[in-house]
Amino acid sequence: MKHNNYKLPIVHLFSVLLLNPLVSCQLDYKFYDDSCPNLTKIVRYGVWSAMSNDTRMAASLLRLHFHDCFVNGCDGSLLLDGENGEKNALANRNSARGFEVIDNIKANLEKACPATVSCADILALAAREAVYLTGGPFWNVPLGRRDGLTGSQTAANQQIPSPFDPLEIITAKFTSKGLELKDVVVLSGGHTLGFAQCFTFKTRLFNFSGSGKPDPALDASFLQSLQNVCPNQADSDTNLAPFDSTSSKFDNLYYKLLVDNSGLLQSDQALMGDNKTASFVSYYSKFPYLFFKDFGVSMVKMGGIGVLTGQNGEIRKNCRLKN
Ligand code: HEM
Ligand SMILES: *[C@@H]1O[C@H](CO)[C@@H](O)[C@H](O)[C@H]1NC(C)=O
Ligand SMILES: *[C@@H]1O[C@H](CO)[C@@H](O)[C@H](O)[C@H]1NC(C)=O
Ligand SMILES: *[C@@H]1O[C@H](CO)[C@@H](O)[C@H](O)[C@H]1NC(C)=O
Ligand SMILES: *[C@@H]1O[C@H](CO)[C@@H](O)[C@H](O)[C@H]1NC(C)=O
Repeated sequence: MKHNNYKLPIVHLFSVLLLNPLVSCQLDYKFYDDSCPNLTKIVRYGVWSAMSNDTRMAASLLRLHFHDCFVNGCDGSLLLDGENGEKNALANRNSARGFEVIDNIKANLEKACPATVSCADILALAAREAVYLTGGPFWNVPLGRRDGLTGSQTAANQQIPSPFDPLEIITAKFTSKGLELKDVVVLSGGHTLGFAQCFTFKTRLFNFSGSGKPDPALDASFLQSLQNVCPNQADSDTNLAPFDSTSSKFDNLYYKLLVDNSGLLQSDQALMGDNKTASFVSYYSKFPYLFFKDFGVSMVKMGGIGVLTGQNGEIRKNCRLKN
């Protein structure tokens, strides 16, 4: 968007600036410094208290920002309730969690600075806090996103990567958002936190691609332990396996495991099936500090996908409903 205000009479320009701090169409680190000085503290407290009840919540909050950004941009559309909303898309139904945590943070923000902070920005900040509080990197979050008016379950079904997608499809989903191959590897490192349900990787355990055998890309003892968590019967589908053995600590173990053929999802291990992605994996498995640094950079990039600023979108009062 362009700044067209230079043609306005000066008094009009003044009232535009006074009433609408959104004349800039770009995100800004200091966006809420005056309008909501306690923003970071409030979000951090909300994430921290949710994690002290449920350590997995850090993972779940990180994933929410990803699933928001990959569907028509980081516009909080994931949070909208409704039968046809994104919450009911394949990747989210009975899977995405943490919505009540966002509601609590939003309620506290509405007390401290009413109608000021967008739900999309809360998701971006909560993801950063989740990573930071689990021992990962800290990065500054550009702010000023506005909330979208609609969600799209169809777009969510098409655009969120599936664990059954081959690497080329996953990469295409990232590049269509302006991200690169490197970001695929870096952001997949988010799987250093949290859990997956058996149905998302069980196809690898018993009869891989109709071969009658497990996925040959699975380490034998890791395979054994996964078969114990996910026996070959339908009632194990929702059992949980951690992505790595330090699933509530943000570290680079995820990459070390990929090098050892012990990635959980087929899409995780696929990063070792391509020379370029495999060399990034190997690099991050050796240099955790560089993974941390790159993760922050890629998160800021992801957080900039399709953001709404200026007159597009709104500041929702309740993250579940448009105003
Ligand atoms: C590269 C493509 C990706 C695929 C195919 C993928 C797929 C999945 C799947 C299947 C699950 C398990 C869901 C369940 O069992 O209910 C999951 C969980 C998770 N994903 Fe991803 N993901 C991808 C990228 C990302 C990215 C970019 C991030 C964040 C930067 C991320 C963060 C997470 C986290 C933290 C969890 C655990 C959530 C929890 O325990 O509640 N994922 N992902
Ligand atoms: C920020 O929080 C502190 C206490 O943590 C409080 O004293 C102060 O009034 C708050 N400021 C605003 C502007 O809400
Ligand atoms: C604590 O976490 C559990 C899930 O682990 C959840 O059912 C419960 O609602 C949470 N309690 C609070 C107060 O957030
Ligand atoms: C594996 O799957 C294929 C194709 O779905 C099937 O023909 C075969 O019988 C299965 N093998 C075993 C051992 O279940
Ligand atoms: C990928 O690596 C393998 C073995 O390390 C090598 O044989 C192959 O030529 C490489 N492929 C490309 C496209 O560089």
